[in-house]
Amino acid sequence: MSVSVVVGAQWGDEAKGKIVDLLAQRARYVVRYAGGSNAGHTVCTNGTTYKFHLIPAGVLHPHVTAVIADGVVMDLRAFNIEAAALREQGVDLSRLRIGLGVHLTMPYHRLLDELEEAQIEGRIGTTKRGIGPTYADKAWRIGIRVADLLERERLAQRLQRVLQRRNPTIQRVYGAKPLDANALLEEFARYAEQIRPCVCDVPHLLMQAVERGEPILMEGAQGTLLDLDYGTYPYVTSSHPVAAGACLGTGIAPNRLTEIWGVAKAYTTRVGEGPFPTELEDEVGDRIRNRGREYGTTTGRARRVGWLDLVALRYAARINGFTALAVTLLDVLSGFPTLKVCVAYRLNGKEISDFVADAPTLARCEPIYAELPGWHEEIDHCRTLSELPPNARTYLNFIEEYVGVPIRLISVGPSREQTIECL
Ligand code: IMP
Repeated sequence: MSVSVVVGAQWGDEAKGKIVDLLAQRARYVVRYAGGSNAGHTVCTNGTTYKFHLIPAGVLHPHVTAVIADGVVMDLRAFNIEAAALREQGVDLSRLRIGLGVHLTMPYHRLLDELEEAQIEGRIGTTKRGIGPTYADKAWRIGIRVADLLERERLAQRLQRVLQRRNPTIQRVYGAKPLDANALLEEFARYAEQIRPCVCDVPHLLMQAVERGEPILMEGAQGTLLDLDYGTYPYVTSSHPVAAGACLGTGIAPNRLTEIWGVAKAYTTRVGEGPFPTELEDEVGDRIRNRGREYGTTTGRARRVGWLDLVALRYAARINGFTALAVTLLDVLSGFPTLKVCVAYRLNGKEISDFVADAPTLARCEPIYAELPGWHEEIDHCRTLSELPPNARTYLNFIEEYVGVPIRLISVGPSREQTIECL
């Protein structure tokens, strides 16, 4: 029996989609537990590239039931576009399940996110997918859940209530056009019929699966350093990408988790605003960005790029309790004479080796690097550890020793086959 969680160990975009796809071969359920259509997961297999934002990447496997659990927020307009694109590629979505407790990201959430991000001051650099406003309404207890959507009368009442609060803000604070409750009711009542067959009590479904000993894989979105509580607040997302978030988002009890996978790039990237101690704003950074095709799946934005920050990675290992690491995009680092990894920070003239999540303090931290020899060869054809150049192995050993977690998967290219399993 295994209940595994796959967690981003950095600021998101760690190529979790590929790792989930690999591990899903052994799973019966693949479950998204947090976030919404701000996420972007790409899976390349048999020459086809599939893009996921809300739907768990595990749906590609015919033996898998893909679940959108209650901790997720769901934009039904975006969901319909994604589902149509996947169906066109021949993906069978009949095994998709959606939780009754999932909160809906409504058009006013997306509008409020866009209006807020249009302000210069205090901008977070969000994906403008309405994620923050949706979770805010959830916490304010005026959110609309899938369970509300399924009963027209209930949906009408919830819409009235929330628009009484949100429309004045849209109009008076931002000077934008208010939304019409009736138009939304008609549109969303149609969506209700489309998703009704997939809706179920997800905590119940998963608890039964756990009791039957069926393997479950929980798929994180974003990354540890974007966690609402443990990330670099306020430059974070509004949910809990960390492993504990998988329990909150699915109803699976913490003592049921058996494996916690941390996925980290061999370097670091970040999208949006916020401190980034190892950021490279030079030609080395440009080279990594180009080799790694570091442009967002969801927004197309160029990602900020930097050396691997081991201080941050060890923090992620502790917060999540990683039992295994998957290191991705190692192939991107071929061709550098030396590679730097951050092993400590200098703060107020003192050396510190613990991560600082407080954003203004982290912004004052200067990285202290260890330098490791690089390798010249391309490694995208390597399939075993022994095929890797010795310096690439030294680099991996350094990470493993510093973080104290075994590396069990190494990705050297986007396709399923370009993977090294370390047994
Ligand atoms: P939001 O999640 O759209 O509210 O954005 C909040 C912060 O999280 C911004 O810095 C985004 O760039 C970042 N973010 C959200 N989703 C992702 C993701 O999937 N990958 C990387 N960064 C993300």
